[in-house]
Amino acid sequence: MKVRYSINGKKKEFEIEAGEVLLDVLRRNGYFEVKGNCYMGTCGTCTVLIDGLPYTSCTMLAAKVDGSEITTIKGIGTLQNPHPLQKAFVEKGAVQCGFCTPGTILVAYALLKSNPDPTDDDIKKMLDGNLCRCTGYVQQIEAIKLAAKMLKKGDG
Ligand code: FES
Ligand code: FES
Repeated sequence: MKVRYSINGKKKEFEIEAGEVLLDVLRRNGYFEVKGNCYMGTCGTCTVLIDGLPYTSCTMLAAKVDGSEITTIKGIGTLQNPHPLQKAFVEKGAVQCGFCTPGTILVAYALLKSNPDPTDDDIKKMLDGNLCRCTGYVQQIEAIKLAAKMLKKGDG
């Protein structure tokens, strides 16, 4: 069957197999910025935004989100024009091996859209489903708070 998505603002149409998950469809079509790891919905590395909200793409049936707007990490900022979250993650040392980073930043992006001034607890709750083996989470929390400040000042 065919599915149609808007991915990072571009209209796309893909042939999918019955039961295929969104993560596999995205990677098969070159969206390698979406990482796969546990395939069980527990690590959060495969997170994408679907109509603005974060979901684990390894547990989302590709057919179920036919017609949706999908945002990957490349949809929020580029190397030349990074999003404040991307700048803040670098500045605060919240990117180490980087494997968890796309998913973590997309979750943070959705959080800051709905709550521009999150507390540490708000951030911890939101990051609950995004595992990181490197940072110990402190730098990520600092980065998200810095990005919130940058966004409020209109910086970035
Ligand atoms: S690969 Fe999807 S949550 Fe781990
Ligand atoms: S930076 Fe390595 S897993 Fe998070």
